[in-house]
Amino acid sequence: TRPLKVALLGCGVVGSEVARIMTTHADDLAARIGAPVELAGVAVRRPDKVREGIDPALITTDATALVKRGDLDVVVEVIGGIEPARTLITTAFEHGASVVSANKALLAQDGAALHAAAEEHGKDLYYEAAVAGAIPLIRPLRESLAGDKVNRVLGIVNGTTNFILDKMDSTGAGYQEALDEATALGYAEADPTADVEGFDAAAKAAILAGIAFHTRVRLDDVHREGMTEVTAADFASAKEMGCTIKLLAICERAEDGASVTARVHPAMIPLSHPLASVRGAYNAVFVESDASGRLMFYGPGAGGSPTASAVLGDLVAIARNRINGTTGPGESAYAALPVSPMGEV
Ligand code: HSE
Repeated sequence: TRPLKVALLGCGVVGSEVARIMTTHADDLAARIGAPVELAGVAVRRPDKVREGIDPALITTDATALVKRGDLDVVVEVIGGIEPARTLITTAFEHGASVVSANKALLAQDGAALHAAAEEHGKDLYYEAAVAGAIPLIRPLRESLAGDKVNRVLGIVNGTTNFILDKMDSTGAGYQEALDEATALGYAEADPTADVEGFDAAAKAAILAGIAFHTRVRLDDVHREGMTEVTAADFASAKEMGCTIKLLAICERAEDGASVTARVHPAMIPLSHPLASVRGAYNAVFVESDASGRLMFYGPGAGGSPTASAVLGDLVAIARNRINGTTGPGESAYAALPVSPMGEV
């Protein structure tokens, strides 16, 4: 059978794990897909870096030429940011490839346009890795719960800030001290703004709200408050009340069903609440639906290997679609449903 040709855009923490698992799980993946998976090219910024297990002949700095090859089945975008990722993804569709992306910022901003581009070319766009790393959320919301009515999605979707808040809670440390430790341990980025100011969580909230409520929610629609102002004194008062503080993403359908809201902010929650026991860099998300009741999704929300797991799941889904001559749920599947206007947030 013709191999599934995959190109990687980006070979950092996530990309290198995707490549590694593609190799170590090659036989299993081939069995599940019914065809071998072939790494056809890897676009990187720094070609001199040693990349264990990757044939140096596959490495290129010309991502544009790679996505224009025309013989690729899937392009995996793990570079992040808006550009050049957006142009590379649309170019990949134009040249016959489906796309797996882990890019929450881009999907929160331009998800609808990217879905439209995928559809125009009869290709797939999957992004399970964009929200909460390894935790299956996109597909359960889109597929398993498609016959139910989701009313609320609420949870911890940023591992870095949960690590910092957990540190502050358990040691009495101040924000800066906890952030320094998160940086030293490699949880926080050198520039932690996207995490601590809530942009990362807000992008994830936008994606989740859009899928859960069959509407379009963009990053700008999400009310956002970071956690940089939370102090050791806040934790002390929370403790006195039998509570802790978590940075929550909350996406809700209004009671009249006519609008949805999405917001991210630090919130006090009782210690008895399951979210209070989410420690370290873990994520946890509650989904509340009419028929299912309350579901909780919990697990590692960041990191190379967990995020790569979600990417590879998407790769298998696309490969199966290819065999069946179909594509996964696209934008038109949603556009056909009533779109609720956004409420005031
Ligand atoms: N910076 C993100 C986090 C990475 O800490 O959760 C995963 O999206």
